[in-house]
Amino acid sequence: MTSLDLPTDLHARTEELRRLLMTYRFGVDEVMTKVNILRDEFRHVHDYNPIEHVSSRIKSFDSILAKARRKRIPLTPQGLRSQMLDIAGVRITCSFVTDIYRVRDMLVGQRDLVVLEERDYIAHPKPNGYKSLHLIVQVPVFLSDRVEDVVVEIQLRTIAMDFWASLEHKIFYKYGGEAPRHLTDALKLAADVASSLDTSMERIHDEVQELEARREHPEPEPSQEDEILVALLRAATASVAHGGPRS
Ligand code: GTP
Ligand code: MG
Repeated sequence: MTSLDLPTDLHARTEELRRLLMTYRFGVDEVMTKVNILRDEFRHVHDYNPIEHVSSRIKSFDSILAKARRKRIPLTPQGLRSQMLDIAGVRITCSFVTDIYRVRDMLVGQRDLVVLEERDYIAHPKPNGYKSLHLIVQVPVFLSDRVEDVVVEIQLRTIAMDFWASLEHKIFYKYGGEAPRHLTDALKLAADVASSLDTSMERIHDEVQELEARREHPEPEPSQEDEILVALLRAATASVAHGGPRS
């Protein structure tokens, strides 16, 4: 390659990267639409909302560059597509742990969404206490001249897990990954407290749901016939229990 070729090549590569990042934007839009439809429909049908909050982001060029250098990933469309699986990210915050799996099942059940990888850090938390459910999915994006399968990382967590993760993230960066022991210990303890908060909140929620269901479907009043039958049965069993006269 002569030095004269460089600007054209550079232009082509920049354009290629720009197009690639655009497809990630579309991938995120597709997943966001799916999540928002689930949220609205679920709220409508079940009168309840398992999704508290949804957000998305495309990794900044600086973060892509830093990760590519750290993990020795070639800065080419092929390299990024196959080895950097979190360029497009969607984060779903749910009210309760059960909701996380419920939303997961609803997403995974969609036929145009392919799960490439699942990491369950709720069932298997990281040693520092990190909990979340991670899905790496592939979603088709229909472009003018082709269909592109775009990889999107979906993170599902509860409000408590999200609160914990954002504080941990801040501390991790503040100390460049080398936080003092007393802080990592305190974070681990906070993660345990967050988990027990999730458990308690879900238990209370279940109890309220049960009470509401009972109020909506009260037990039917016994009919007169039922009451006569019950009175006869009670009298009969009472005489047996008290050793009454035998026939
Ligand atoms: P990365 O190279 O960071 O993408 O890690 P990975 O590809 O091995 O995947 P992993 O499942 O460990 O992490 C993916 C993403 O989950 C990270 O980019 C964070 O957003 C989040 N995450 C994972 N571990 C932690 C953690 O210990 N603390 C916080 N706050 N977030 C985490
Ligand atoms: Mg990652």
